[in-house]
Amino acid sequence: MSNIHVKKMTGACGAEVLGVNLASLSNSDMETVRQAYVDHGVIFFRDQKITPDEHIAFARRWGDIVINKYFTPTENPLIAEVRKEKEQKTNIGGGWHTDHSYDADPAMGSILVARQLPEEGGDTLFSSMYAAYDALSPGLKKTLEGMRALHSTARAFGAAGFYQQTDQGGGMKVASEHPEVSHPVVITHPESGRKALYVNAAFTTRFEGWTPMESQPLLDFLYRHAVQPEFTCRFRWEEGSIAFWDNRATWHYAANDYHGHERLMHRITIKGVPLG
Ligand code: SIN
Repeated sequence: MSNIHVKKMTGACGAEVLGVNLASLSNSDMETVRQAYVDHGVIFFRDQKITPDEHIAFARRWGDIVINKYFTPTENPLIAEVRKEKEQKTNIGGGWHTDHSYDADPAMGSILVARQLPEEGGDTLFSSMYAAYDALSPGLKKTLEGMRALHSTARAFGAAGFYQQTDQGGGMKVASEHPEVSHPVVITHPESGRKALYVNAAFTTRFEGWTPMESQPLLDFLYRHAVQPEFTCRFRWEEGSIAFWDNRATWHYAANDYHGHERLMHRITIKGVPLG
């Protein structure tokens, strides 16, 4: 008999999936988990004791794994490290973003497993891009729906990009080329069918057909708009916690409030589809 139970976190996004062991999830519980992921944008699990191989096996139930080219891999190249050492000041993911929007087929989701946590701090925040889109005025929705935006690795992972100017630079590979890929500014989510805002400050460079200077004021408005507290949820990590977020439906932000303490997470990113 299944004990699975989905507990919603806030009005806009996030749910805890209780009563499951991800290392031995039945097919019917997997369907409940899949529906929770579609409905809530990000789902969380507690008290899991999964090995790296079980992390990979769970990820493969969702699709193919995409290797992140810039993060340090763990012993298994399919799993990336998200690490901040005691001495480091900069964390990875410490700004609102969605993963891999610089790919032509952007990652559908990322599964983050806590391996070493600070005693306090190091939460991850999420914001619903469905809620952000829904709250726009009819006029701005209409304008944005005809538009596309370009995304690239330059600002985050390029030689002159963010991480190379910080104490995370040494552990990251530099992106030597950063081709721009184009996605709609408003996507129709491939699984839920809902409309979501799909630009982000880490990887979006400009609107297609607009200059960076023309694009920036409207992008800045959207970035402020999209992180209103009402659109967000916040996850407090504990030993055994796992988060699985939908990169098309949410943004996330890793809080950097634990200087002097180590935090190590293992991340697997799952391949997505072209966005329309
Ligand atoms: C990330 O941005 O993928 C990392 C999130 C986190 O470490 O909480």
